[in-house]
Amino acid sequence: MPHENPTDALLAHFDRTRRDMPWRRTSDPYAIWVSEIMLQQTRVDAVIPYYERWMARFPSIEALAGADLDDVLVQWQGLGYYSRARNLHRAAMVVRERLGGRVPREAEELRRLPGVGEYTAGAVASIAFGRRVAAVDGNVRRVLSRLYDLERPRAADLRRLADDLVPAARPGDFNQALMELGATICTPRSPRCDTCPVYRWCRARQLGVQENRPRPKQKKRVPEEHVETAVIVREDGALLLVRRPEEGLLGGMWEPPGEHRPAAVRALIDGADPGPEMEPVVHVFSHKRVTYRPRIHHAVGASLPDGSGVAWVTGERLSGYALPVAQARIARRALRLLGGGLSVASHTGA
Ligand code: ADE
Repeated sequence: MPHENPTDALLAHFDRTRRDMPWRRTSDPYAIWVSEIMLQQTRVDAVIPYYERWMARFPSIEALAGADLDDVLVQWQGLGYYSRARNLHRAAMVVRERLGGRVPREAEELRRLPGVGEYTAGAVASIAFGRRVAAVDGNVRRVLSRLYDLERPRAADLRRLADDLVPAARPGDFNQALMELGATICTPRSPRCDTCPVYRWCRARQLGVQENRPRPKQKKRVPEEHVETAVIVREDGALLLVRRPEEGLLGGMWEPPGEHRPAAVRALIDGADPGPEMEPVVHVFSHKRVTYRPRIHHAVGASLPDGSGVAWVTGERLSGYALPVAQARIARRALRLLGGGLSVASHTGA
């Protein structure tokens, strides 16, 4: 019997094809929340090892709320968009201190937590608590734009269409089925319409315009930035890291001094012997492209002490600090160049 409507057809397809993912084996709302935050901007395959490490380290809201920000950032290291980790940490503290340790069940309450937007609130409320509410991410936006032939869908319109489709019976499965359809069949380019369970209802497909729905957004030119990175090395081979301010990009992470240079660090650089420049490292953020230009400085008779956002690190200790990917690369290269045997946590990529 063919299905009567796209909701049933999609659910039946999901039941046949659903991929096994660690967060689909649990009904713990905290675990589902963590997975949804990690899955923003990051693919399922890439998320799995991070998710498993995270859940082993912070198995509950309590554990996360009681953790040090440093530890939280180290566990997130390599996933990028670190404000997601900082917000998750803050939100855990809010849940512990103001909500009696219980994750809110309703999307509107979830939305009040740091880092929880409309998508995440809908995903957690529907998947963990069976609430009938939509969760529109990038994949769902594409699927709906094709199903209803929308060129430039507005968020509010997508929301309404998705709300109409979500069934009361299995809202969480349905939302995940939509996401999964977008990830596996209704892909941005060359969608596999011949295997699509909702092909019969797809207006864009009927008109042959599926590849152009939604219409690509105009790409903005991303600004370029250059940052001088001071690779300061002490006579004993230790490398100086400073901690970035908590607010803003990569907040709370450690790095060889770049834009953020406390006065004592500036003084140290002024008194150091400038060494060679190292090869630049480029990092592309969502909103800008930064070229880091590292230069080695040999600190002589330096007495700047550890503490308050400053640390000299050697060897194994380096892996206890969360460095952004580009800065971790610079640190590793510098230490190799200088013959030190330092290592940075291996999961940041070379
Ligand atoms: N992307 C975001 N959340 C997801 C989920 N729960 N299942 C599959 N893909 C997702």
